[in-house]
Amino acid sequence: MSKNNIAKITDFDYLARGIAHIDGKTVFISNALINEIVRYEIVAQKKNIIEAKAVEIIEKSPFRRENVCPYYGKCGACHLQHLEYSEQIALKEKIWQRQLEKYAGGSSKNKLTAIFGTEQNYRSRARLAVDYRKEIKLGFCENASNKIVDIDECPILQKNLSLAIKIIRKFIQNNSEIKIAEITLCQGEKSSAIDLSLLNKNNTIELKKLLSLSEKLAETTNIAWNIFVNNQIAIEKEELYFSPTKNLKINFYPDDFVQSNQELNKKMVEEALSLAENKSNSYADLFSGLGNFSLPLASFNKQVFAVEAIKDMVTRAQIAAKKNNLHGIIKNNCFDLFKPNKKLLAELKNYDFWLLDPPRAGSLELVRSLIDNKYQPQFILYISCNPASFARDAKILREKYQLIQSGICDMFANTHHLETINLFELK
Ligand SMILES: C[S@@+](CC[C@H](N)C(=O)[O-])C[C@H]1O[C@@H](n2cnc3c(N)ncnc32)[C@H](O)[C@@H]1O
Repeated sequence: MSKNNIAKITDFDYLARGIAHIDGKTVFISNALINEIVRYEIVAQKKNIIEAKAVEIIEKSPFRRENVCPYYGKCGACHLQHLEYSEQIALKEKIWQRQLEKYAGGSSKNKLTAIFGTEQNYRSRARLAVDYRKEIKLGFCENASNKIVDIDECPILQKNLSLAIKIIRKFIQNNSEIKIAEITLCQGEKSSAIDLSLLNKNNTIELKKLLSLSEKLAETTNIAWNIFVNNQIAIEKEELYFSPTKNLKINFYPDDFVQSNQELNKKMVEEALSLAENKSNSYADLFSGLGNFSLPLASFNKQVFAVEAIKDMVTRAQIAAKKNNLHGIIKNNCFDLFKPNKKLLAELKNYDFWLLDPPRAGSLELVRSLIDNKYQPQFILYISCNPASFARDAKILREKYQLIQSGICDMFANTHHLETINLFELK
């Protein structure tokens, strides 16, 4: 590496990396803030594009701060801890406005107030990898690599989950005959859970060992711990559930998709409800998971059609609807929304307000089918966790829809991930 790779940061990209222009090349530099002068190391290089990371900050931004985590920089889970939190929100808002102007014809007068909460101890779920080579390592992957960074704590995780890490490490060390591929930690409203996913799915773990693990975790964290093995309940101490709104209870399994910041999820659901209220007589919740939006939408007392691809989750969503006395209002269905078939598209014609909450891949096929077919719902509330796939889908939607409201919801503080809420109306 040349010691003279020095750059002045003049801009930022949608992953919140600093941008510099050097000798006709664009250099994307992680850990670099606008107006800083940094020394950088090249990570990858293509024709006129260089990816790099700042290794020395020669002139600091006034918004740069000390890292809040001892593993920051090595662990790949966070990207923005070096930036003061209020500036993270400001930066994400700017990134979002740019994306909208570029792809969705949006303007700032349509802006929803940014939703944010606590920047630490917010994550209510995490998946830790285990590495048995040499000494045991437990943690997240390093940046752009599959090497594991061995951690004892994580300030982003909810406190109970962070405190559990050391106890789990001891459990793994004391039971080295049990080989674990990965560990999922999750936090419900009233209890926590751990899922041990075994390398060999046919192996078993003695119940007394699991009981003792549950007890040790409870002693340290003052909350009940349920233990799952291969996503099957082994020890149930207290019901595991989350609540998208105050009066609802949705049971879940560690492997189910559940929003990973429950404090902000409640605010996001509240925003979605206020955008959806009185806009239709029937709602479709597409990519519905366990009913995080469909159950709250059912409070309008209008028909809700919920679609999810994973069968077990559809079953659990049906159980949740029943338990919350909403099964007469919600129809839960299993369809692949990446390949919407005629039957599904025919049914969707009955719903004039669609809530789309796709995974990172977005919802290209459904959006395309909307433009190609005769039927279009009056409103689409598109909740996106990936600005790139949203940009692609919004560009298509623009043919027939206008973006009327949009804003960010900072579900993933200290990372570059961006969750957004976007309401489209038929032109
Ligand atoms: C971002 S999550 C949102 C879930 C739910 N709306 C929530 O807030 O908890 C996306 C959901 O889409 C589901 N999914 C992924 N691919 C799908 C597909 N091809 N068709 C239907 N659902 C899919 C996932 O299982 C997951 O539950």
